[in-house]
Amino acid sequence: MTEASMAEIADHGPGHASVVDRSGPALVEMQDISISFGGIHAVDGASIDLYPGEVVALLGHNGAGKSTLIKILSGAYKRDNGEIRVKGETATITNPRDAKAYGIETIYQTLALADNVDAAANLFLGREIMTAWGTLDDAAMEAEARKVMGRLNPNFRRFKEPVKALSGGQRQSVAIARAILFNARILIMDEPTAALGPQETAQVGELIKQLKADGIGIFLISHDIHDVFDLADRVVVMKNGQVVGSAMTSDVTKDEVLGMIIIGKVPPGATPGPGASRD
Ligand SMILES: Nc1ncnc2c1ncn2[C@@H]1O[C@H](COP(=O)(O)OP(=O)(O)OP(=O)(O)O)[C@@H](O)[C@H]1O
Ligand SMILES: [Mg+2]
Repeated sequence: MTEASMAEIADHGPGHASVVDRSGPALVEMQDISISFGGIHAVDGASIDLYPGEVVALLGHNGAGKSTLIKILSGAYKRDNGEIRVKGETATITNPRDAKAYGIETIYQTLALADNVDAAANLFLGREIMTAWGTLDDAAMEAEARKVMGRLNPNFRRFKEPVKALSGGQRQSVAIARAILFNARILIMDEPTAALGPQETAQVGELIKQLKADGIGIFLISHDIHDVFDLADRVVVMKNGQVVGSAMTSDVTKDEVLGMIIIGKVPPGATPGPGASRD
C-alpha cells in the first residue's frame, strides 16, 4: 500500500469514494444474468458491477439470489443467460479455474482451511513451492506467508501453529491472504463476519480497508446492515432473483435500505432495478 492511499483512508474512512477508481473500466460487470433451477428463477436478469478499490454489498432476504449470482461469477454455476466482462472484455467463465485465471477469488463462510496445518501450508495448499530437488520448499513458503500476512495483519505472529488454534478473525486473514497471494483482483466474501464476535468483525473490517487501498474490488454478501454501512461504498439489493435497486451507501439511510430489502421500495437516493416495486 502506498503512503498516499494510507493517508486517504486515514482522512476519509473506508467507505469514502476517493479510494474507488472509476477512471478506467469496471473490474467486473455482470449484465442481465439469469439462471433457473427446475422452474425456479434463482437469478432473473440481474446486473451488477464493481470498480477497483470498491466494496459493493449484496443484500436481500434468504433466497433472494445473492449466493447464486456470485457463484456464477466464481464459476461454480453456469448461467443460462447474460454476459460477464472483466476490465471491459468479455470473459469466459465456465468453471472455478476460469474465474481464478481472471483474478476472481471467493472466500466462503466455511473458509475451507486445512485445520491441522499452519498458515503457510494453508496459503500454498495445492499450489506448493518446490525446491530444485522436488521437495517442499518450506522456508520459501514461510517467507512468502510472513510477507503477505505482514501486509494484511501485522499483529499476526502465530505462524507455527495449526490454523484450528487461531481465532476466527485470524483464520479469516489466512483465507484472505491465500486469495490475494495468487493475485486476486476481485474478491467475493459471502457472510465474512457471520460467525465472528465484535472485535473480530472489526479486524475483518481492517483487512477490507487494506484490500481496498491495494485496488482490489470486493463483493460483500452480508445480512448485517451495520457492517454494510461501515464497509461498503455501494449497496445492491436483490429480491426474488432480481435487482430491486442500488445506491451509494452515502446517499441512503439504513431504514431506506431495509425498505428496499423488505418491500422492494426504492428511495430517491437509489437507482431502481428491474425488481423495484411499482407502487
Ligand atoms: N443448487 C440449487 N438447486 C436448486 N435451487 C437452488 C440451488 N441454489 C439456489 N437455489 C434456489 O435459488 C434461490 C436463490 O438462492 P440463493 O442461495 O442464491 O439465495 P441467497 O440470497 O444467497 O439467500 P441466503 O441469504 O439464504 O444465503 C432460492 O430459491 C434457492 O432455493
Ligand atoms: Mg446465500
